[in-house]
Amino acid sequence: MTTNISSDSPIGVFDSGLGGLTVLRALEKILPKESFLYFGDTAHVPYGTKSAETVTQYSRHILDFFVEHGTKAVVIACNTASAVACTTLQSEYEVPVFNVVTPSVEFASTITKTQSVGVIGTTATVQSGAYTAAFNSLNRGISVKEISCPLFVPLIEEGWAETSIAREVAMQYLSPLSTLNTDTLILGCTHYPIMADTILSAVPDHIQLVYSGETVGEQLKHHLKKEEKFNTENALKTTRFFVSDFPQKFDELGSRFLGRPLENVTHVSLL
Ligand code: DGL
Repeated sequence: MTTNISSDSPIGVFDSGLGGLTVLRALEKILPKESFLYFGDTAHVPYGTKSAETVTQYSRHILDFFVEHGTKAVVIACNTASAVACTTLQSEYEVPVFNVVTPSVEFASTITKTQSVGVIGTTATVQSGAYTAAFNSLNRGISVKEISCPLFVPLIEEGWAETSIAREVAMQYLSPLSTLNTDTLILGCTHYPIMADTILSAVPDHIQLVYSGETVGEQLKHHLKKEEKFNTENALKTTRFFVSDFPQKFDELGSRFLGRPLENVTHVSLL
């Protein structure tokens, strides 16, 4: 189904599952006239505990799907895939591939006053060191504290994001930030915006959060304008959803992440 790429072509957004719908939600706000194809690799979620090779291989299948559907750009909404697979995907595909790490790092570096930034994410994201490497490449002397918070995803998926248990867990994970003079905290996982209030309650008051969906949305908007692929009036604007499995609690989770019911979802088996 390869088509000519134009400003009307859709933007592909993918994630290991449904968490990336928080990123899509932000993208739809920032780019209200664009069409989107969202792919949730629900048959393979979570990515956060898998090896870089496996995550890269899963991501390739999704990129192939997007290329076949004529996307004009691809956003890796998943922080884990952004951290471990993006460079490889950018070298293998012609379609512009955006990750959520770089724009959040660039934005955080412009707002931190204490030059001390925290990043929270899955174990795979933190182990990759991608955020620290991205800060170091800016050469601004910003110190980075990356903390993996593996219990956050299950808590959020269980609907416990705003419970006292979640607050207790957040305080345990985030206590190092209190002594580091950190003033900026990147939510380096698709799910964490759902838990933002709890996270804020567990860190010093002056800490501001950085949301990946917003930072990558602004970067993508800039790119589309520059390439003259920005859609200003799209009468046929659509968002279509594709998943590789229909897991338990699919509807409930999907609508919680997206902020509206998930409709017209197509099952696609990529392997
Ligand atoms: N989407 C993943 C991320 O942003 C979280 C869920 C998973 O581990 O797959 O890192």
